[in-house]
Amino acid sequence: MKGILLAGGAGTRLYPITIPISKQIIPVYDKPMIYYPLSTLIASGINEILLITSPKDLKLFQSLLSDGSQWGCNITYAVQDQPNGIAEAFIIAEDFIGSDNVVLILGDNIFYFPSLKRVVDNNIQVTGASIFAYHVSDPSRYGVVEFTSTNEILSIEEKPKLPKSNYAIPGFYFFDNHVIQYAKELTPSTRGELEITDIISKYYALNLLNVIKMDRGTAWLDTGTVSSLMEAGHFVQVLEKRQGLKVGCVEEQAYLRKYIDKVQLEKLASQFNNSYGKYLSSLLDE
Ligand code: G1P
Repeated sequence: MKGILLAGGAGTRLYPITIPISKQIIPVYDKPMIYYPLSTLIASGINEILLITSPKDLKLFQSLLSDGSQWGCNITYAVQDQPNGIAEAFIIAEDFIGSDNVVLILGDNIFYFPSLKRVVDNNIQVTGASIFAYHVSDPSRYGVVEFTSTNEILSIEEKPKLPKSNYAIPGFYFFDNHVIQYAKELTPSTRGELEITDIISKYYALNLLNVIKMDRGTAWLDTGTVSSLMEAGHFVQVLEKRQGLKVGCVEEQAYLRKYIDKVQLEKLASQFNNSYGKYLSSLLDE
């Protein structure tokens, strides 16, 4: 399974912060935003990753993440010239995906998902699509999935004005290789984008859609506005301070997935003369 990390978009809702810098680079408490989805991919068992970003931001990501080998990953890069929608990523990534299956995560989606490894190992289908559903108070800002009382899927809609349920679809999707073909068949929506929801609807129509409800002990955080960004930072701070365990720590997840060994973790820890480095060192003793 290959992984796509999509870090596009102009981030206009966060202006002026994001005038000179990509939204997905700005900090969420103690690390750059992109660390969170990257660590989610790594925790899912994916270490071959294509990062897609705008031409303007490419260099920033390369200087932050380099080729990923420091974390036992292989990170390559591609650009999306215009914000033509999430689904365009599968067309851009066609050669990278090859004949494999693929998972796409959005660079601004932050998960606190302690059971992720188990959920992924037990629930992801090899054929078809698997997506998540998360109960939110404001579903009209997202893709929305509606269920019957017996958990059958009833409808999938993108940013509905009158949502039929409170279940939003987070930006973390698993697809079989047909996704490339389906992306090529899409036509742009009224907002001029190739919509991920249209791809999901295609799998639904084929009866090949698996929706996994994230349980209440998990969190999917929004970073779209200054206030939700601040809240996400506070959430991470509160958890980390209380537990002494980090959320979204790329080095830790790479170590837990055995992509790097103790020697490499020690080397990474020694690069930071601060509490982040101390945390990485503390993992060596556990
Ligand atoms: C996109 C998707 C939407 C999804 C959301 C998750 O929305 O179109 O279906 O629920 O990401 O973050 P957008 O980033 O365009 O607001």
